[in-house]
Formats: sequence, C-alpha cells, structure tokens
Amino acid sequence: MTTIHDAAAAMGPGPLTEGGLRQHIAPLFSRALAGDKARREIYLANHSLGRPLDRTADDIAGALDLWYTDMDGAWSAWMDAMDDYRARVARLVGRSRPDAVVPKTAAGQGFRAVLNALPHQAPHVVATAGEFDSIDFTLRTYARKRRARVTWVKPDDTGLFHAQDIVDAITDDTDLVMVSHAIFATGQIIEDIGAVVTAAHAHNAEIVLDTYHTAGVLPLSERGGLDELGVDFAIGGNYKYTRGGPGACWLSIHDRHLRDAGPAPAGSLYTLDTGWFAKHNTFAYERPETPELSAGGDAWLESTPPFLLPYQARAGLELVEAIGVGRLRAYNLRQQAVLAEALRSRGIEPRLIEPRGAFLLVPHPDAMEMSRRLKDAGVNTDARPCPSGKTAHVRLCPDILNTEAELHRAAEIMAGLLAPR
Ligand SMILES: Cc1ncc(COP(=O)(O)O)c(C=O)c1O
Repeated sequence: MTTIHDAAAAMGPGPLTEGGLRQHIAPLFSRALAGDKARREIYLANHSLGRPLDRTADDIAGALDLWYTDMDGAWSAWMDAMDDYRARVARLVGRSRPDAVVPKTAAGQGFRAVLNALPHQAPHVVATAGEFDSIDFTLRTYARKRRARVTWVKPDDTGLFHAQDIVDAITDDTDLVMVSHAIFATGQIIEDIGAVVTAAHAHNAEIVLDTYHTAGVLPLSERGGLDELGVDFAIGGNYKYTRGGPGACWLSIHDRHLRDAGPAPAGSLYTLDTGWFAKHNTFAYERPETPELSAGGDAWLESTPPFLLPYQARAGLELVEAIGVGRLRAYNLRQQAVLAEALRSRGIEPRLIEPRGAFLLVPHPDAMEMSRRLKDAGVNTDARPCPSGKTAHVRLCPDILNTEAELHRAAEIMAGLLAPR
C-alpha cells in the first residue's frame, strides 16, 4: 500500500497541481470521495469538518487491535502514539519541544485549563467579540459566576477586528488576552498578533491564541512559530484542516512557562484542571502534602488520557506535514481565486477579506437558509452571522480534493439559487 509520505513525494517538490493531487493524493481518500459521490455532493465545508484519509480508519483499528491482543500491554504503544501526536503538533505550530503540546479533547478544554491556572480568582480577560462560541460561552459562564471579568473588543461596522483595538483594551488590570488568529465567522486573520502579544506582556498579562483556523492553514512553524511569536498559550484541534475528527485537540504552552518537576512555585501558572497524569512520577503512588507536578508540559496533563486521540489524528497530520503547509496554503489561495472568479462571472460578489484563512464568504441576509438550499442542490457549505450583526455569510472552503470543475459547478448552482425568480 502506498504510504502518505510516498504519495506526497511522488508529486515532486514544486507547487501543487490538480493533476498531481488527483493522481497521487486522491487515492488516499477513496472512502471519503466515495461518500461525496454517493451523496452527489460537492463538499466545500472543509473548514468545518475535514475529509478523513482511508488510513485513519486503519490507524484507529490498529489501536483497538492492540487492546484485544495485548490488553494492558497496549499502554506503552498507546503512550508512544501520544508522544508522537504531541511532537507532530509541536512541529506544525512551532513549539520548541513535544511536551509543550498537551492533548485535550476540545479547544475549549485547553482554554479552561489556562483560565483555571491564573493566580486571580476572578481574572480580568480581554477577548474579542469574535471568539468561537465555545470560548465565548465559557467566558460568559465564568463572568456569570463571578469567576472572571471580561472586556469584549468589538468589531467595526463591517465585522472586522483590529489589533489596535485589542491593544487599546489591555491595561495593567488585564490578566489574560484571548484572541483568535483567524476569526471563525469570517476567516479574517488578525494580522498584527505580534503587537497584541507585546501589549499583553507589557502589562504582565498572558495571551491565549485560538489557532483552530490557522494551524494547518498558515505555515506557523516558519520563522520560529508560536514560540518565536511569544504566544503564551495556543489552542487548536484537528477536525478541520488536519482531518483528525472531533476529540483530537490540544493546548500548547510557551517554553518559558515549562518548569522542572516539583511543587509549583507560589504565584506561578499551574492549573486546577489536573489529574494523576500531571503528577511527578505518576506511577509511584506517592502523596506528598504539597502536590508535586511533572516536568514541562506534562504538568498540564489531566486524568487518564483518551487513547484513541493520537490515532484518529495521525494520518491527517502526517499528510499535512508530508505535503507542507506552505504548499497547501498556496494551493488553497489559488482555489479560492478560481472560486471567487467563478462566482463573480455569474453575478455573485464574494467577500474577500485580506488577509483571510482557508475559506471565502458570500454575504446573504439569510445565509443559513441559503446554505440549506445549497445543500439540497448538492453543494455542502455552512453559514455564520457576521460579527457586525448586520448580515451573514455563507462560508465556502475548497481543499485539495476539490477539482476546478467542481468549483465552477458549485458557482453555477449558487448562481441558480440566487438568480431573481
Ligand atoms: C475558532 C474555533 N475555536 C474553537 C473551535 C472548537 O471549540 P471546541 O473544541 O471547544 O468545541 C472551533 C470550531 O469550529 C473554532 O472555529
């Protein structure tokens, strides 16, 4: 069977081409592509739930086989797989060491671990009003229980956020800044994250960056990645661009917050979201009066980890690494340009925010309904309200499995639905 590495290598080193992808990469996705065909659907919701490789099923089955055959002997292979997962994500986002990546089952779980590590009982959080619902809801719930005070940074009239507005909201009273690298509703990339990080640190605040729409989309690890950018904490997950399905997420931590094993120094960042895997010498069963944490990122582990997590994420991460995020990004931008032109030539004006992530927008006052009608007509998209509150957008995200012919066909179908009746 062709390996992911061999398939990617067979395309050669240059820019990705549709021919190369169809010949070498599409066969790795026979099941997902058969599904699209059976549903008679052009799948453009790749920004929502990425299409899985065939190998994902084999990897998960392999993890289960270990259980059946080796029973508790499976643990060491399962833990090796977890180490491999942490190393892959660290390389993807530019963290200096594998243990700086802490497996989580949701990005929101990673965020809560940080909230619950801050020294203040009710930290002051500066967050944009464009954070994903999971984060937004968590903050509102903490605020309701008086476990946080939140300053919300609003978008402008067009729904765009500006780094300067976030910087201006940060004061000496701020404990934590929560900001998305790319805003989920619009794909807008917050360009000057460096300025936000600098402002947070100038006021002794920490920053959490939500990279769900940039990890695997932008070549984050170039030029030192998240460590070089100085981002204290980042959250992300694999069910979109890295094709790992729900449940395989992570929190990553800057190496300046990683400590030697032992009792956490008073006032330092250590989290209440903990469990026996965060203990120094987990299997020694010691119970010192002062809890002793494991070294580095392991201090942020919790209870017994979900052992399928690294297996469901492995093939997708392997593919992204084998092809290279830079090449994927360049190809996606070309596909977006093709789709935008296909829409424009049929009288639909897409909204192209610069810079943006992997998807483009078509504004529509009832975008949810439009997306439902598109689905019925054979184009799978989704829709989100604009952060301005004034309109909504259908989100369309091509990926390496979409052909140019599909993009034209999707534009044609959309034009048919939008045409005046
Ligand atoms: C920006 C962003 N953050 C987080 C998530 C997912 O959050 P959680 O893993 O807490 O469900 C999503 C899902 O679409 C997202 O778009």
